[in-house]
Amino acid sequence: MHEATQLKSQDDLAIAAGKVAAGKVTAGMTSDEKDELLETTMMSMLDRKAQTPWFADIETFAKGGPPPAQSKFLMHYEPRLPQMPAKPTLMDYLKRRVLLNKRGGSHLLQSAKLAMKNGLPEKLVLACLLHDLAVLCHVRTDHGYYAAQMLEPYVDEETAWAIRYHQALRFFPDPSVGYEYPELYTRVFGEEYQPPAYVRQAYEYARNHKWYMSARLVTLNDLYSFDPNAVVDVDDFADIMGRHFRQPEEGLGFDNSPASHMWRSLIWPNNFL
Ligand SMILES: [Fe+2]
Ligand SMILES: [Fe+2]
Repeated sequence: MHEATQLKSQDDLAIAAGKVAAGKVTAGMTSDEKDELLETTMMSMLDRKAQTPWFADIETFAKGGPPPAQSKFLMHYEPRLPQMPAKPTLMDYLKRRVLLNKRGGSHLLQSAKLAMKNGLPEKLVLACLLHDLAVLCHVRTDHGYYAAQMLEPYVDEETAWAIRYHQALRFFPDPSVGYEYPELYTRVFGEEYQPPAYVRQAYEYARNHKWYMSARLVTLNDLYSFDPNAVVDVDDFADIMGRHFRQPEEGLGFDNSPASHMWRSLIWPNNFL
C-alpha cells in the first residue's frame, strides 16, 4: 500500500498514479489496457475505486488530447444495440435501452414493484420505476437531477421533484419512517464520508417542502437488497405509464422538449457529436 495520507487531492492522486502506472506500461499495450492500469494503480494507492470519466483520461490529455481521427465514425446507426422505432415511447426506451442493464434494471423494477405492494400512489410508483434512470443510461453523477430533467416535460411535477430529491435524501436518515443511512454507502464511500454542502442544502430544502414525503418514499422503496434473480415484468407498469407519462406524439426524443436531446442520446449513445 502506498502512502495514501500524502495524497491530499484527487489531482495529487492522479499525478502520482500516472507516474506509477507509466512505469508499468509495456510495449503493445492498448489504450484500454493503459486506462485499466491507471485505474487499478489509483485504486491500490487510495484503496478506493476511482472511475475516470472520458474527459479526465489524464494520460491522453497530458499529451494534448486524443489524436485526430484517422477514419470515419459510425453515426446514428448503432448495430450493437436493439433498433428503436421512429417514434419511440417510454416503454421502448425501457425495453431497448435502460433494461439492457440487467442488474440496474432489476433494481428499478423491484423498487417499483415494492412501491406498488406498499400501496404508493401511482405517480410515485412511476417515480420509483424511473428514479435511477440517469445512472443506467446517462451519468451517475447528480443522477437525481439528470433523471428529473429528462422526465419533467412528461410527468407530474411531484413525480420529477421526488426523483430529483431522492438523491440528497438518501444520505439522511429519517427515523420517523424507519429510513436509515444505507449500509451500501458506508461500504462504498467509507465510514468517514460526509455529503458536501450542496447535498446537505438540497436535503434541508426538501425536508421543509410539501412534497418531502414523496421523495422520502422513493428512498424508502429504493431497494438495495434486491434479488438479482427475481423477474419483474416491465409490462406490469404499462398502465401506470399510460396514465402518468405524457407520451409525445412525435416520439420521445423528437418532440422538441427541453429534454428531447437527452432521450436522443439514448438512441445513439456513441454519436461523435
Ligand atoms: Fe438513486
Ligand atoms: Fe436506486
